[in-house]
Amino acid sequence: MYVPVVIVGSGPAGLLLSHLLKRRGIESIILERKSREHVEGRIRAGVLEMGTVGLMRKIGVDQRMNAEGILHDGIYISVDGERHHINMKELTGGQTVMIYGQTELTKDLIAVRLEQGGEIVFEAEDVSLHDIESDRATVRYVKDGAEHSLTCDYIAACDGYHGVGRRTMPENRLKTFERVYPFGWLGILAKAKPVADELIYACHQRGFALCSMRSETVVRHYVQVPSDARIEDWSDDRFWNELRRRLGPRDAELVNEGEVFEKSIAPLRSFVAEPMSHGRLFLAGDAAHIVPPTGAKGLNLAASDVHYLSQALIARFCYNDERPLAHYSQQATARVWKSERFSWWMTSMLHRFGDEGTFDGRMRRAELDYMLSSKAGKTVLAENYVGLPF
Ligand code: FAD
Ligand code: DHB
Repeated sequence: MYVPVVIVGSGPAGLLLSHLLKRRGIESIILERKSREHVEGRIRAGVLEMGTVGLMRKIGVDQRMNAEGILHDGIYISVDGERHHINMKELTGGQTVMIYGQTELTKDLIAVRLEQGGEIVFEAEDVSLHDIESDRATVRYVKDGAEHSLTCDYIAACDGYHGVGRRTMPENRLKTFERVYPFGWLGILAKAKPVADELIYACHQRGFALCSMRSETVVRHYVQVPSDARIEDWSDDRFWNELRRRLGPRDAELVNEGEVFEKSIAPLRSFVAEPMSHGRLFLAGDAAHIVPPTGAKGLNLAASDVHYLSQALIARFCYNDERPLAHYSQQATARVWKSERFSWWMTSMLHRFGDEGTFDGRMRRAELDYMLSSKAGKTVLAENYVGLPF
């Protein structure tokens, strides 16, 4: 069977791409390794840039997001218990962010895609990509024990860091860049009222903490933990106590405890693979790059990649212009590196690395103090946090 575009992965990148193409009459099929329940149950990011919100509005999958998403004008940075406000709206000439869980966004994108008759093959096993340097590519997979084969003009690998897309690129074409941080984030979801009206990013001698939310009744909180931390060692009580200590006495009073219904540890890393395309294969989202979560950029970067990729595929299919596809990797990586820089910068300033008594440690602290004391510094944070244009 032939389809113009095969999309591997039904995370935010793959789903958004299928909608953006459909809007211009370009058909695609999504192959997803996991079940629908699994994909819809994964707890991940929570902050949408206005560019991402704009894409959801453009494809018309915005009803629930408009009703339930919470707009935030700023964030708080707490340093050893003292809170500073970054008013992003004022500093960026009116831009804000929206709190809306990746889980909800994914559910909305899947539901509307299926309603519109789009095809998502869940539990597609052994997806393999062939002939990416030929006139037509082939994608093979197994579903319910039967082998299937699709021919297509282009493959969009939106299959995350562990996917098959990047691994199919010739090794000698690919250059990778990586930094692994010596800590992770322990995150919980709990039925409780948020600590404050906006997110609090806390830098404390005991380590980083983040108070986020999903709604007025559900909170998402994180604490920095060593890379080898084990979830069994973190009882709910231990988590709440540690969070309070890192917020300092004043904000500790504002922490509302509630039933914890999810708890997990995520490692922190920065990773970029270049180029993001080879022949008929195009990488987007986590398949090509990972950011540490401190800047809330992972999901948003996946969205900006697919914006560029959809534009390039539309140019090819609707106007027979192949040039944007040839420039996709260059265009996408230029923005990727800026988000990598921001995520690395936020991570460096706000976490404990264990070398606070050294020159590097003092530099990181000076960077934070300077940023908070300077309108120019806060503006740098604000304009990156709300998202660079695309
Ligand atoms: P994904 O969402 O990873 O989607 C890729 C999809 O491809 C998945 O559904 C996967 O099952 C599928 N797939 C993989 N391999 C194959 C294959 N061989 N065949 C078929 N399908 C395949 N970002 C933040 O900003 N804040 C956070 O708090 C945050 N927390 C995170 C926690 C975790 C545990 C992880 C992994 C990521 C987190 N992120 C966070 C990052 C953010 O969620 C990602 O950047 C975002 O999901 C990227 O979207 P994507 O569509 O590129 O990839
Ligand atoms: C959330 C995650 C982040 O990485 C972040 O920077 C802000 C919020 C969240 O899950 O709510």
